[in-house]
Amino acid sequence: MIIIRKVAELLDFVGHQKETGHSIGLVPTMGALHAGHLSLVERAVKENDCVVASVFVNPTQFNNPTDLATYPRKEEDDFKLLAEAGVSAVFAPSVEEIYPGGPEAQPRHEFELGEAAEVMEGKFRPGHFQGVAQVVSILFRLCSPTRAYFGEKDFQQIAVIRNMVKSEGIDVDIVACPIKRADDGLALSSRNALLTGRQRKVAPEIHKTLAYSVDYAKDHSIRATHDTVVERIDAIPEMKVEYFEIVDARTLLPVEEWDESPWIVGCITVYCGSVRLIDNITYKNTF
Ligand code: PAJ
Repeated sequence: MIIIRKVAELLDFVGHQKETGHSIGLVPTMGALHAGHLSLVERAVKENDCVVASVFVNPTQFNNPTDLATYPRKEEDDFKLLAEAGVSAVFAPSVEEIYPGGPEAQPRHEFELGEAAEVMEGKFRPGHFQGVAQVVSILFRLCSPTRAYFGEKDFQQIAVIRNMVKSEGIDVDIVACPIKRADDGLALSSRNALLTGRQRKVAPEIHKTLAYSVDYAKDHSIRATHDTVVERIDAIPEMKVEYFEIVDARTLLPVEEWDESPWIVGCITVYCGSVRLIDNITYKNTF
């Protein structure tokens, strides 16, 4: 595996792969890698001749400076895991390399991300998806991937990236990969490393409650299912639900009746102390 720090080097590497007729799989990450990220890498390795993983904590998608400052960074461990997983090249640029002159100096470009970017994360993290679209579009331009891999843990992110790819006219196959969980059900996340012992102990209640609510939903309305999830999680002293929305999985817009859509998911964000955890569950998929 080669470690690439510079855009020019990446363009050389990609150019060479393309000349050789190789397909390229791209796995964008912000590092502090865990088995969730590695499941994307494993799939990319199976499906492509060459896999590029990026490790870049993108400042433009953080709307909270403390979140950016405390975001875990473990570059050496990440490189080791990526090499073992069979990645051909890791792209780990500086902020200056991606945003010459700093993020503020970049030409203004408003991405058309559709209504899917306005709800949930879009509402609670203003500017977040514009930042995600900005960095992902740069990575797509630099790597010209055949396929790019994203995790369903960030369910809304995938929908928004699909909208970005469409509106920017980028030719890439977006591959959605299932959520990887710890044995106790907690969705793996780089932010889990920031939980105290006590918080880590109660955090699996998020998935347990969502899983319970799938059963509950069989004979209750969307409103009742919503309320029972929020009440149960808010009853745990360490936790506070920021939002929980039951939505159409294709548009990410709220639904009011179970028969309104063939594919319905519940998306949740919970503060566990000051750590923001995100998860989702499928209620129905006959799509
Ligand atoms: P990051 O949070 O590092 O996640 C990188 C990728 O790994 C995302 O596609 C995410 O959905 C996936 N992932 C994280 N935890 C997962 C889990 N438990 N199971 C399956 N997949 C999981 O998402 C980002 O970075 C950034 O927004 C990025 C797309 C890299 C743009 O900066």
